Amino acid sequence: MKNIDQGDIPTSMIIRCIGELELPQYCADFAEDDPVLRRASTGAEYWLARGPQVCRQALSDDAVSRSAAAGAQSPALKANPTISASSIMSIDGSRHTQLKRVLSVWLSKRNAAAWKPNVAKRVEESIDRLRGFGSGGSVDLVSNFTSVLPMIDLADLLGVPEDRMADILDCADVFFDLDSVPPEQAAARIARLVDFTIEMLTVERKRLRPGMIVDLAANQDLSRREVLELILALLTAGFHTVAGQLSIVLYAVLSSGVLARAMLDPVAGETVVRALTHAVPVTTVSFPRRVLGEAVLGSTSLDHGDLVVAGLADAGACVLGDERRWHSEALNGLGFGFGKHRCPGDGFALDQLALATRAFVLAFPSARIAPGAESVRWTDGASTKSVATLLVDLTA
Ligand code: HEM
Repeated sequence: MKNIDQGDIPTSMIIRCIGELELPQYCADFAEDDPVLRRASTGAEYWLARGPQVCRQALSDDAVSRSAAAGAQSPALKANPTISASSIMSIDGSRHTQLKRVLSVWLSKRNAAAWKPNVAKRVEESIDRLRGFGSGGSVDLVSNFTSVLPMIDLADLLGVPEDRMADILDCADVFFDLDSVPPEQAAARIARLVDFTIEMLTVERKRLRPGMIVDLAANQDLSRREVLELILALLTAGFHTVAGQLSIVLYAVLSSGVLARAMLDPVAGETVVRALTHAVPVTTVSFPRRVLGEAVLGSTSLDHGDLVVAGLADAGACVLGDERRWHSEALNGLGFGFGKHRCPGDGFALDQLALATRAFVLAFPSARIAPGAESVRWTDGASTKSVATLLVDLTA
């Protein structure tokens, strides 16, 4: 990140720099004339919706149901063991709409005034911890920064007492490598998180700080089970995603002087994190859906019972070479999904990404990726992709 000066950086230049990043094979090869592709996987066959238009169709067509596929099992379509069939992420219909409204009010831009100062404070604390590494050797930004901060931010949003922060961080590893551990082990990990959450709702209730748990628990329209599941949904959906996306954004700004410089300007900085989330999304595919009745995606007819997954990374990558399409897709693409199940945490996530990355660039203007092929290692999850190791010389 040499020669950083603040200045106006046009969106088109930001987009071009993202297109030039060295990335691993992020999604299957895309052919414009093959927007919906039948794919075989070991356990099940499914349709992969590709390209922004077909993905949007797949995620908003009423005949393509999320709840009907909530238990879908196959290596590539593994049902996430942390998500119950009655979670907001698994249900459709009017109860889904009601629960979504409850979450959206909490996570809305209107409430940003409440969370932003706390996020900024937590970012500074995390940057100070990084400063503690001094100039001796390389630091892994994933284990020391990107996979710690988002859980602390979520705990703040929920109102977890300060002295229980370490415990909730301890629960964070629940979300790592879930794809690769046997179902019983994954279930044991999630049980720990459920225990912690129940403890917050019962034993620790009086010590909770003002925050989401207190508000949800006081909401007469929600059953105890729904409150528990909403909290778990936030931890499940809001931690691993931000941690992974932050690792991608930091990799990008450490790889491109222009992107690093853009981060110094609040508007250009927001464009960088937004465009990266849509072009290089940590969530490479949506949750599976199932066709009820019949559906036509692109020019392909799908039958009753077929499984469908939206290729969010495909949708981002296929527009990289086309700047005209990019302007709308970069700022309003599919990184956060689309339709009724679109992510309600986008504003909270983008604020965390922008604040953390800007603070990093300001604190370590001459940081660079440590030499050696082992310094950057990517994960290879079935439904997410991010940087697993990012060794950096902070004061190079
Ligand atoms: C960069 C970070 C994030 C990314 C890339 C992301 C991505 C997504 C995507 C793609 C979906 C839709 C999945 C589908 O339809 O199959 C989703 C849903 C969801 N996200 Fe996020 N997310 C992020 C951060 C967050 C945060 C911070 C929260 C909460 C604080 C959150 C809460 C949720 C919830 C509750 C859902 C389920 C919504 C529903 O089913 O109606 N996410 N997210």
